[in-house]
Amino acid sequence: MSTGMFMLPFSCLRVWLLRCCGVKIGKGCYIGFNVFCDTNFPELVEIQNHVTISHNTLIFTHTITPCKSYLSTIYRQIKKVKIRNGALVGANCTILPGVTIRENSMVGAGSVVSSDTQPHCLHAGNPCKKIKQLHSIPK
Ligand SMILES: CC(C)(COP(=O)(O)OP(=O)(O)OC[C@H]1O[C@@H](n2cnc3c(N)ncnc32)[C@H](O)[C@@H]1OP(=O)(O)O)[C@@H](O)C(=O)NCCC(=O)NCCS
Repeated sequence: MSTGMFMLPFSCLRVWLLRCCGVKIGKGCYIGFNVFCDTNFPELVEIQNHVTISHNTLIFTHTITPCKSYLSTIYRQIKKVKIRNGALVGANCTILPGVTIRENSMVGAGSVVSSDTQPHCLHAGNPCKKIKQLHSIPK
């Protein structure tokens, strides 16, 4: 998946590849180069319609260690990620298990999204927080 997401020159081909891998993607989406969707549980990633996900963004649906260790016996998290209609995720973001990016919300570049966003709002930072309501296109 990673090689394809890096090499395929058009968003429509990257959307096709993600769908082949089990990610649910609606219509009219733009997927940037090198976007990574969880390879263990890709079917838990749901991207609705007209969503933009920019380059190098990472989407995770699980936190499990494959190593035989203390943590593997006590910690296992598998949760859906939903990115709703019209949302925009900037470049180099990390979206963590269980997060819903709500309708028409925007996430600034480089953000780590650990909780749900609010619809029609700009969010940014690590941890990602609401910055403002979006009434018009930012200049
Ligand atoms: C969020 C963004 C769109 C700017 O929106 P804006 O409405 O012009 O917001 P402003 O620049 O006025 O910033 C508002 C506040 O958010 C902060 N902020 C903006 N972008 C941020 C980011 N990515 N991470 C952390 N904080 C950010 C600013 O520092 C500012 O904070 P302050 O009020 O304390 O000074 C832009 O910074 C961004 O991240 N764009 C994404 C770029 C990208 O990934 N493009 C790929 C193609 S989609």
